[in-house]
Amino acid sequence: MSATHFQLDPQGRLLHFLTIEGLTRRHLTDILDTAESLHGVAERRVKKLPTLHGKTVVNLFFEASTRTRTTFELAAKRLSADVLTLNIATSSAVKGESLLDTLRNIEAMQCDMFVVRHEQSGAAEFIARHVKPHIAVLNAGDGRHAHPTQAMLDVFTIRRHKPDFAHLQVAIVGDILHSRVARSLIHALNILGAGEIRVVAPRTLLPAQVENLGVRVFHCPDDGLRDVDVIVMLRLQKERMEGALLPSEPEFFQRYGLTEERLTLAKPDVLVMHPGPINRGVEIDSRVADGPRSVILEQVTNGIAVRMAIMSITLGNHARPAGEAV
Ligand code: NCD
Repeated sequence: MSATHFQLDPQGRLLHFLTIEGLTRRHLTDILDTAESLHGVAERRVKKLPTLHGKTVVNLFFEASTRTRTTFELAAKRLSADVLTLNIATSSAVKGESLLDTLRNIEAMQCDMFVVRHEQSGAAEFIARHVKPHIAVLNAGDGRHAHPTQAMLDVFTIRRHKPDFAHLQVAIVGDILHSRVARSLIHALNILGAGEIRVVAPRTLLPAQVENLGVRVFHCPDDGLRDVDVIVMLRLQKERMEGALLPSEPEFFQRYGLTEERLTLAKPDVLVMHPGPINRGVEIDSRVADGPRSVILEQVTNGIAVRMAIMSITLGNHARPAGEAV
C-alpha cells in the first residue's frame, strides 16, 4: 500500500498526515475549515483548547527547523497536549535499525503522536508503518519528497485572501528540484482546482518531467510572473544540491530574484509568499520580503492553526472506532 492510501482508514479518514498526494478536495477543505475555526484561539485571553488534553505529542526532528518545529510545538500546546521536542543529529543515511530503536524507546513512553522531520524521503511513512496503531504520525518534511502541513498552511493563507481558486494563477519560483514544499503545494493546488500553476526556474533546478505534475513551465520570470495572483519564492536548497547546478548567487538573483520591478509584472494585489528561511538578496529583495504584498509572516502565524487542525483531525479519527460516521 502506498503512503497515499496508508494514511487513510478503510472509511477514507485521515489517520496520519504523510503526503497530499491522493487526498480529496473534501480532505483538504475539512482541514482548511477546521483551521479557520481554530484561527481565533490565538486572540483569546487564554490561548488554549482542551482537545488534546491528556495526549502526548513527540516532535522528532532529525533535521534543522525553526518555524515548523516551533509552530508544531505551539499548536500541540494550544490544544493542551503534553509536548516533547527531540532534535536528533543523524548521519546522512537512514539506518533502519537505529531509527526503529529510537522509535521503540519513545513509544515506550506512551505517546500518542509523532511529528517527524527527516532528511530521507519516506522516513515519516516508514515510522507510520512501524508504530503502534493508536499513534498518529505527521510528516513535517521528508527529504525532497513532501511537506504536507506547509502546503496546507500555504493554501490556507491564499484562501483567506483569494478564495476563488478556479481563477487563481500561482507562480512557484526558484529551486523546485530540491523542494518538498513545491511538490506538496502543487498537489494541494491541483486538488483544490487552482486555475493555473506555473513553475519558474532554470532547467537545472526543475525535476525531470515536471509538467506531469500539472504545471506550466517557464524559464524566464518576465513571462512566468505575468498577471499572476500569487508568487511563491523558494530558497536555493544548497544542502540538497550535488555538484554545481548554478552559476552563482548574484547571477541567480539577477535572473530570478524577486525585485520590486519584477513584482510589477504580476497582478497589483499579488500575494508574495515564501516558506522560509528566506535568503535576502539571493531569491528575494528585502524590499519585497518586507513590503506591502508580502504575507510571509502571516504564513508562519497560519501554520499554527493549520497544524492544530491536522492534529485534532488525525487524533480524533484514531479515537473513533472504525465504521463510526465522521
Ligand atoms: C522548508 C523546508 O524545510 O522544506 N522550510 C520550512 O519548512 N518552512 C523550505 C526550505 O528549507 O527552504
